[in-house]
Amino acid sequence: MAAPLPFATLDTLDPQGKRILVRVDLNVPMKDGQVGDQTRIERIVPTIRELADKGGRVILLSHFDRPKGKVVPDMSLKPIATALATALGRPVSFAHDCIGDEAEAAARTLRDGEVLLLENTRFQPGEEKNDPDLATALARLGDVYVNDAFSAAHRAHASTAGVAGHLPSFGGRLMEAELAALFTALENPERPVGAIVGGAKISTKLELLENMLAKVNMLAIGGAMANTFLAAQGVNVGKSLKEEEMLDTARKIMAEAKARGCDLVLPVDVVVTEEFMAGAPTRTVPVSEIPDGWMALDVGPQSVQILNAKLAGLKTLVWNGPLGVFELPPFDEGTNAVAQKAARLTQAGTLKTVAGGGDTVAALRHAGVLHDMTYVSTAGGAFLEWLEGKVLPGLTAISTTLEKTLPV
Ligand code: 3PG
Ligand code: MG
Repeated sequence: MAAPLPFATLDTLDPQGKRILVRVDLNVPMKDGQVGDQTRIERIVPTIRELADKGGRVILLSHFDRPKGKVVPDMSLKPIATALATALGRPVSFAHDCIGDEAEAAARTLRDGEVLLLENTRFQPGEEKNDPDLATALARLGDVYVNDAFSAAHRAHASTAGVAGHLPSFGGRLMEAELAALFTALENPERPVGAIVGGAKISTKLELLENMLAKVNMLAIGGAMANTFLAAQGVNVGKSLKEEEMLDTARKIMAEAKARGCDLVLPVDVVVTEEFMAGAPTRTVPVSEIPDGWMALDVGPQSVQILNAKLAGLKTLVWNGPLGVFELPPFDEGTNAVAQKAARLTQAGTLKTVAGGGDTVAALRHAGVLHDMTYVSTAGGAFLEWLEGKVLPGLTAISTTLEKTLPV
């Protein structure tokens, strides 16, 4: 079943001759003034190309980093315009502010099929406040609004939310793909559906865990979060990272999983070390035998075997967060092995795997399987908030079916 999208797609927009304000997410990793990872740029190309090819005048809006309402030259989008032009294979002009005379003149003189990028929306103090005046000023630049920034949809800002109240609004192709993937994975998944949730702290993933419990048949916990669950069961986790104040919460989550018939999977063995550093001696021990003064930094081979066997029985998998400290080999082995298993099952066609959020993309890339998943989201925080079951303001703002509760 196709995802019931809450917004109008580009299928219903005739771009010819129109000034189309497109919110994208060009908040890409930069290294020495160059774009590091190109994923977010590559993923917005289809929308821009389609609109321009059909004679639209494409005006791109994006934030970059967190300049907090001030002009911070290091956070200019200018270098990214160049990278975008390369990815598009066509010129991208640039205006030094996202509103005002220069932006308006550039938007007015843009010709059919041309692409213009406006400067960082967060240079404007009104952006993050969703200031109505800024939204109005942005709306003056376009005839219609397209949001293709799912990864910024958890922000109720002027360029992601407010502006949509002034113009006919649509979801772009990337927005469409992200929502379709999330729908496949969580709203109407083929069952059994499982989730792998890693990360350091239960406290930052509490809502996510609770929402997932209600939706999945299996929930595997990895990362330092698993230590807190183990400790809550009375396991001595040595000097492993754990949250003392979350022990009761962990017990509640385990009880709830049981009551709901959700198979909560914790590591049975771990790779431990005394020192958090590359090359420190390691041991692999059952979780019941973590020595005092040692810490768990990865799941062990038996845990991997158990989890991989469970993956083989699933039809759908949602993955958020690594199982261990994958940045510091050899503590990447657990994550690598499980990611590679998920990739093999996905490639064989027996499993649909949707992954996203923060470190997940880096972990999958490190495991060499980033392109072997069914879908990998470009979103960090927005992906997490979706897994938490939250309504995303950027979606509500362009929605034709959700109630608009935001000041627009
Ligand atoms: C992201 O990188 O997750 C998005 O671009 C949102 O950025 P923000 O967390 O600074 O709002
Ligand atoms: Mg961020």
